Amino acid sequence: MYDRSAQFYDALYSFKNYEKEAAKLHQLIQTHKRSTGNDLLEVASGTGSHITFLKKNYSVEGLDLSPQMLKLAKKKHPEIVFHRGDMVSFKLKKHFDAITCLFSAIGHLKTRRKLGLAVRNMSRHLKPGGVLIVEPWITPQQWRKGSVHANFVDQPELKVARMNISKTRGRLSVLDIHHLVATPNRVEHFVERLELGLFTHDEYLDAFRRAGLETSYDSEGLMGRGLYIGTL
Ligand SMILES: C[S@@+](CC[C@H](N)C(=O)[O-])C[C@H]1O[C@@H](n2cnc3c(N)ncnc32)[C@H](O)[C@@H]1O
Repeated sequence: MYDRSAQFYDALYSFKNYEKEAAKLHQLIQTHKRSTGNDLLEVASGTGSHITFLKKNYSVEGLDLSPQMLKLAKKKHPEIVFHRGDMVSFKLKKHFDAITCLFSAIGHLKTRRKLGLAVRNMSRHLKPGGVLIVEPWITPQQWRKGSVHANFVDQPELKVARMNISKTRGRLSVLDIHHLVATPNRVEHFVERLELGLFTHDEYLDAFRRAGLETSYDSEGLMGRGLYIGTL
């Protein structure tokens, strides 16, 4: 997962407005948080692009499963503490005022059981009155099997064409993502398979409520995928 594509991640997602997204997160955290501190944990922090802006208002730490992603994030933010861990099972000796898990990273969990465990595990790391914000992957109802997707990078010394066809296996969305990458040294092709759980709105809400969170839903969210917001 992301092993070979991590180095192109920022170029591939340069269309995302992380600054605007972080501004909305800040506003939501301030609205829903009842604890008084500003410690924030970014779970599945990727290359740390939200952290670039969140660190202006919060004392931030990051956590991700992928060593490649962590390496890129640490290079971008040498002053920030990053942890290697799985959102389902990580254990930190610290509690936070806000925990975020964004850009559908939660979808990497393939079962409802793991979704529930991850939401509970993240909520266990909140201070009383702290807030958990999760940006979901799309629902089974929204998933369009057979739809065709492409994304291109056109920089002077890096060209990437990335394509996939949406497939389904039971309640999993399966994305075999083909990358054709040109740098001054060579042109290479590789495929990365991502399998993401298709959870319903009720399943996300259920996971939040079972974790003891007072929960609300913002249907627009950061980029149209919605946001689940829970306060402990
Ligand atoms: C789509 S990227 C999102 C990265 C970042 N949040 C962003 O908005 O750009 C998904 C991230 O989730 C991480 N990830 C996947 N499964 C994970 C897990 N079980 N625990 C922690 N991180 C995970 C991946 O390594 C990757 O960095």
